[in-house]
Amino acid sequence: MSIHTCPNRWVIETENTAYAFGLNSAGLITQHYWGVRLPRLADYPIPADPAGFASTDGFDHFIPEEYPGYASTKYIDPCLKVIFSDEVRDVVLRYLDFSVETSPNPTLTIRLKDVFYPLQVTLYYRSHPDYDLIERWVTVENLGSEPIHIERFFSAKWTLPIGDNYFLTHMYGRHTDEFNLQREALTPGLKTIESRRIIPSHRAAPWFAIDRGASEEAGEVWFGTLAWSGNFRISAEVTEFASTRVSVGLNDWDFGWKLQPGEPLTAPASISGYTKSGFGGASRLLHAYVRNQVLPHGQVPHKILYNSWEATLFDVDEASQSALAEIAAKMGVELFVMDDGWFHNRNFDNAGLGDWWPDEVKFPNGLGNLIQKVNDLGMDFGLWVEPEMVNPDSDLYRTHPEWVIHFPTRARTESRNQLILNMARTDVQDYIIGVLDKLLTENNISFIKWDMNRAASEPGWPEAPGDQRELWVRYVWGVYRVWGELRHRHPNIIWQSCASGGGRADFGILRLADQVWVSDNTEATSRLHIQEGYSQYMPAITMEAWVTDWNEGVVPLEFRFHVSMCGALGVGGNLLNWDDSARDLAAKCIRDYKEIRPIVQLGMQYRLISAQKNAYSALQYVSPDRAEGVLFVFRVHIPEKYNLPQIYLRGLDPNAIYEVEGYGERSGSGWMEAGLRVPLKNLQSKVLRIKQV
Ligand code: DGJ
Repeated sequence: MSIHTCPNRWVIETENTAYAFGLNSAGLITQHYWGVRLPRLADYPIPADPAGFASTDGFDHFIPEEYPGYASTKYIDPCLKVIFSDEVRDVVLRYLDFSVETSPNPTLTIRLKDVFYPLQVTLYYRSHPDYDLIERWVTVENLGSEPIHIERFFSAKWTLPIGDNYFLTHMYGRHTDEFNLQREALTPGLKTIESRRIIPSHRAAPWFAIDRGASEEAGEVWFGTLAWSGNFRISAEVTEFASTRVSVGLNDWDFGWKLQPGEPLTAPASISGYTKSGFGGASRLLHAYVRNQVLPHGQVPHKILYNSWEATLFDVDEASQSALAEIAAKMGVELFVMDDGWFHNRNFDNAGLGDWWPDEVKFPNGLGNLIQKVNDLGMDFGLWVEPEMVNPDSDLYRTHPEWVIHFPTRARTESRNQLILNMARTDVQDYIIGVLDKLLTENNISFIKWDMNRAASEPGWPEAPGDQRELWVRYVWGVYRVWGELRHRHPNIIWQSCASGGGRADFGILRLADQVWVSDNTEATSRLHIQEGYSQYMPAITMEAWVTDWNEGVVPLEFRFHVSMCGALGVGGNLLNWDDSARDLAAKCIRDYKEIRPIVQLGMQYRLISAQKNAYSALQYVSPDRAEGVLFVFRVHIPEKYNLPQIYLRGLDPNAIYEVEGYGERSGSGWMEAGLRVPLKNLQSKVLRIKQV
C-alpha cells in the first residue's frame, strides 16, 4: 500500500481503494481510475487521450483532467482561473516533475507550470490508508515580478467512472433546522452547494456523497468534504457526454486574490474516499479519521456538561449559577459551563461583545468565587465567548470602529445588534489573543464555547494590502491563528465550535475545536433528524447534545436523555424547575451514560433505521474491539395499528455470542440476520446494552 509511480503514471492506494491518474499523450494529467484497489499495477487502465469530436465541444468533455485551468476550448467547470498582468486570462499548465514523501503519510507532489507565464501550480496527494481516504490540496506560486490575479482556486476535482446514472446526496438547512439530507439524480449541468456567509453556515454542509444505487450498508459511494471554515463550494458537473466530476474548494463567489511576486497561496484540503459499504461505511471512515487524525483530543471522551444558557439566558451571576451548579453536581454532571451574559455590560444581546472581562455588577469579585464553588462541587468550569464579534455599544467598538468588516460609504448592517471584527487584520487577532489569554491565565477554565452568531455583510476591508476580496480567506486564517495560538498556550482546554448552533461544523475547525454545538434546536424529536444528518461526516464524540426543557410537557424526560446520549451528553434545562423525580431520573441516565460513553464516543456508529425517513428509528454503536455495543431505539409518532420494523444489528463478530439486554443470547450472525423487535409506544425510547458473552 503506497504511492506507485510508474513512468508518468501514479497510483495512490489505501487499504481497500486506489486512485490512479497520469499523463496522456497530449501531456495532460488525466484521471483514469477511482475504486477498489486492484491486485497489479497493470490492472489499472491507462489515461485517455483526447479524442477528436465536433468543433462545438472541447476535449475536456471527454478527458477528465486532474486540475484544469481555464484555457483554450475547455468549457467544463475549471479549477483555476487567473488574470496575468497583461490581461491574458488563459492558464496553460504543463507537467514539470513529481516527488514522493513517505512520512508521516505517503504524499505525492506534482509540479505544473504555465507554458509562458511565471505561475507554478503544485498538486498534493496524501494517502490515509487506514481510512480509505485521499487528501488533496494545491499551492499556486507567483515566480515572476508582476502580481497575478486569481479569480478561482479550487482544491481538487474528483472524477467518477464514466456513466450518467449518479445521485448526489448533500445537506441543506437553516438556523434550528440543520443537516437535512437530500438525495437527487445528477443530470447534465452543474449542481452547486456553497456558502457565501464567511462560515460554512447552516444553509449547506461542506460534504457530499455520490452513488448509483447504494444503501446505508451496501453499494458504492464516493464521498468527501473540505477542511475549511469559510465560504466553500462543492459543484457536481455532468457533461453532455456522461462524465461526472465534483469540484471542491474555496467559493469563487466574490473571491479575488492578488498573488504578489514570490507569494504562494495554498488551498484548503479536500478529503475524499470510496467505499463499497454504502453511506454508513463512508461515515464510519470519516468518523475514524476525525477521531484519530484530526481532533486534538480524539481519544478522550467528553465530560458530561451542564450549560446555563436556556435556564438563565443573559441573567447570570454568582447566585444563579451556583444554584444550578449544586443541582447539576448532585446529578453527576462533570463540567459546568456558564454561557452568554457574564462579561462587561452584557445584559442583553445589544451590548458588551468585545469587552471580555467579568461584568462588574454581576461579578464584583471576578469569576474566581464561582469557579472555586464549581470546583469544590467536583466539576470543571467552562465559559462562553464570541471573540469575532463586537456590539457597537462596547468599549472596544468606541475605541476601534475601524476594526470591523465594512465599506466606508455604506451603513454597517447589524445582525443581532452586532458587527464582525475583521479577523484578517493582525491587530485584531493580537487583541483577541491578548484579552482571551489573560482570561484563561487568570481563571481556572477547562472548557470554552467559541460562538459566532452572524454572517458577513458589506464585506469591505479598506486597508487590505491586496485585493479586498481576500477577506473571505484571510478572515478564516485569522480565526485559525487566534484559536491555534490560544490552544498552544492553553493545551488542556476543551473547545467547542458553535455558530448559532451548527453553522461552523467542518474538518478545518476540528483541528482546533474538540466538539461542535450542532443546533440551537434542542427539541428531542427534531434533534433526531439533525443528529442523523450531522453523523454523515462527523463522529459522535464531536456532537455535544443537551437535554433541555423544549417540549417538556410532550416528550418524556427519558426520551430526551436517550436522544442526547447518542452523542456527547450534556444538560441544558432549568434544573431549578426539575422536581425530585426528574432529578433522580437524570442522575440515573447520567450513570448509565457514563457506562456506555466510551462505546458511543469512540465506537463505530451504525444508522440502522433512519430517523430522517421514519418515525421509528434505531441507531447502534459498537466498541472498536466489537466486544460491546449499545442500541438506541426511538418512536416519535405513528398512528396505531402499525407493524414496527425488525431491527437488524450491525458490526458484530458473526461467530461470537452476544447478549442483548432483555433479549437473551444469540450469535452475532443471529442478531444481524434475524434481528429483533423492540416494541415502543409513541414517544417512547429504549437503550439496550449489547455484550459479548
Ligand atoms: C447562540 C448559541 O448557539 C447558543 O447556544 C447560545 O450560546 C447563544 N448564542 C448565546 O448568545
